[in-house]
Amino acid sequence: MITFNKTKKMFYLHTKDSSYVFGLNCENRLYNAYYGKRLNTAALKKFAEPVIKEVAYHMVDNMRSNYMPEVNIFDGYNVFENTIKITLSNGVRSLDCSYAGHSINGDTLTVKLKDRKYGILLLISYKVHYDYNLIEKSITIKNIDSKLKAVLETFNSGDLMLPPGRYNLGFFHGGWIKEMSLRLEEISYGRKVIESRTGHSSHIHNPSFFVTKDDKVREEEGEYFYGQLMWGGSFKFTFEKRMYEAVNMTAGVNAFDGCPDLKPGEEFTTPSFIIGYSDSGLGKMSRLLHDYYRDKILKPEMVRNKERILSNSWEAFYFSTTEEKLLKFADKAKDIGAEILVVDDGWFRRRDNDANSLGDWIPIKEKFPNGMREFGNNIKEKGLKFGIWLEPECMNTDSNLYRKHPNWCYRFEGRPDKEMRHTVTLNITKAPVKKYLKDMIRRVINEYDPDYVKWDMNRYISETGICKGSQAQLEHVKAAYELMDYLKSLKPSVILEGCAGGGGRMSGGFLAHTDQMWASDNNDPFCRQTIQYGTSLFYPAISMCCHVADSPYCLTGRKSTALFRLRTAMAGNLGTEANLLEWSGNDIEIFKKEIITYKSVRDIIYYGDLYRLESPYESTRVSLMYVSKDKKRAVVFSYNCGMELTKSVNGVDPKIVVKAGGNAILRGLEAGHEYTVSGSNADTVMTGRELMTKGIGLALKKVQDSAVLILERRVK
Ligand code: GLA
Repeated sequence: MITFNKTKKMFYLHTKDSSYVFGLNCENRLYNAYYGKRLNTAALKKFAEPVIKEVAYHMVDNMRSNYMPEVNIFDGYNVFENTIKITLSNGVRSLDCSYAGHSINGDTLTVKLKDRKYGILLLISYKVHYDYNLIEKSITIKNIDSKLKAVLETFNSGDLMLPPGRYNLGFFHGGWIKEMSLRLEEISYGRKVIESRTGHSSHIHNPSFFVTKDDKVREEEGEYFYGQLMWGGSFKFTFEKRMYEAVNMTAGVNAFDGCPDLKPGEEFTTPSFIIGYSDSGLGKMSRLLHDYYRDKILKPEMVRNKERILSNSWEAFYFSTTEEKLLKFADKAKDIGAEILVVDDGWFRRRDNDANSLGDWIPIKEKFPNGMREFGNNIKEKGLKFGIWLEPECMNTDSNLYRKHPNWCYRFEGRPDKEMRHTVTLNITKAPVKKYLKDMIRRVINEYDPDYVKWDMNRYISETGICKGSQAQLEHVKAAYELMDYLKSLKPSVILEGCAGGGGRMSGGFLAHTDQMWASDNNDPFCRQTIQYGTSLFYPAISMCCHVADSPYCLTGRKSTALFRLRTAMAGNLGTEANLLEWSGNDIEIFKKEIITYKSVRDIIYYGDLYRLESPYESTRVSLMYVSKDKKRAVVFSYNCGMELTKSVNGVDPKIVVKAGGNAILRGLEAGHEYTVSGSNADTVMTGRELMTKGIGLALKKVQDSAVLILERRVK
């Protein structure tokens, strides 16, 4: 998996399908030699130390060497994007690092670089996730100097370099209720920056990208390189096409909010940057990433918990939520087959709109006369789990908390507070604030005994001021992780759902501390097609919460059928936002039936392999399927989104193919086996080969027609 060739002074890292090669030049500096498809020993032998002394920053020596620095350390004249840039307190603004040893510990290689004059050490770490085709990079910067302070001006987690060529970059853009819109464009000369400065990974972008030579994305063919920063706060990706066509990508925490410094003896470790390689399109990339998330990022005991169908009170009642209504609502939720009843915003102090009470986590007497424990117990007696909403990191300026502690929020001295949704952000890095929140969390968990908590965060982490020795946004995210971990430590079985006004914290960083994520505040099934498509590229279905809302939809005014809404949400982690009390008997019956179907296949959706069959960016018919790992069962979802969809697809491919009839070509099955196909009026037996070549007829004639097909492999 990891080897070092002493003679050639080269490191070889291998995953199942990829190789990553870097070495030491004659000056003992690291250069990158190769990343791509897995190479055999003969091919590896071809790599040799570059004949030139200097690693080719400027690629002037491109004819003799394509090699770029493995880590772009600012050495005084590397004018390209730097991985690490440090200013020492004596005014020296460069590092002069060379190799000072390495260690290989199982799947992890650590290379030590040391400054030739000053006491700065860089530990460059590579963890090889062999089966997942991933390499996890991070850097620890140590100040071992006895006197000097080191300011980390740039403290990225690592780079991904590709040989000279023309590449396209796939990245996400969007906004609130428009998360994860995909964009593919050429990486042209100069620098392209995708970043967040909001203190979250944000709705605007996502800390994930892929790079390919394809001009149009392909699901099962083509080489794809990809990266994801495992960080839930402000991030920065720089894509740089340098002279002579070389392409370098750098990823890390955004230094926009401040530069940490290291006093003698201190150290800083960056979050992880995972880089991956797929030799078979975006499909393989997603499937391996989903496996990685389920196996390594999410908590295994929580992944095993399939009972997650929740009915949430938010869009059903907004702030007019009461115990009386919710108990009736719970009966309906139970009736349709939901498993968790969530009381969302509106349950505390005098919260009748978003302008007050956030921070005062005491139930409103008039709304919950018997208190939350009693209410929760009533919910549990109905055979449901009990869930509750919190937004711990903020407070309304009209709240007792703010009146008592006006200085607990971030603020620039002498400037008015910049309220968003009438709130300010608590400085949760301060010890008394952290203590207040821990006490609150402990009380909520011990007194109310919830089985589920939705942890929201509805504003930017702004006006963060100077954080001595570090960066406030960065410390805030770490403190949020700590508070979430504290909550889980009190009751590990609690399902913790992360949320930031929808998908503003959809990230590997926060998924490592939660169990699932609210994908978007937009529950319009047409808009959801692109949001869920984009999210599915990097995140597994089990982590992507998808809810059924009322029609016409409150945010878009668009009407849709109950079945279309339901089946759209069924392609992920299903729940409801709808006011079930007002649903017609007919719609309730549809709900019940589909939820029975969902429960029979959700293990395939949660744990299986995803194949995206027809993309919302290319076709008005959108189809996807999940196949169980043993290939014995599969479920296919298909939707006729009509031209409605183009309204929600932001400036992407105007050449959308209108598709209603015709076969959908399935994937991921066993060619030589027969499968029974049932559901949505289908009742047939076909071989895997037929299904994957001829495909299966899907006559979704009208807009909003949909199909859910269930496939079971027949015993030979
Ligand atoms: C955010 C969330 C919603 C809901 C509201 C409550 O917008 O994304 O789901 O919880 O806050 O105020």
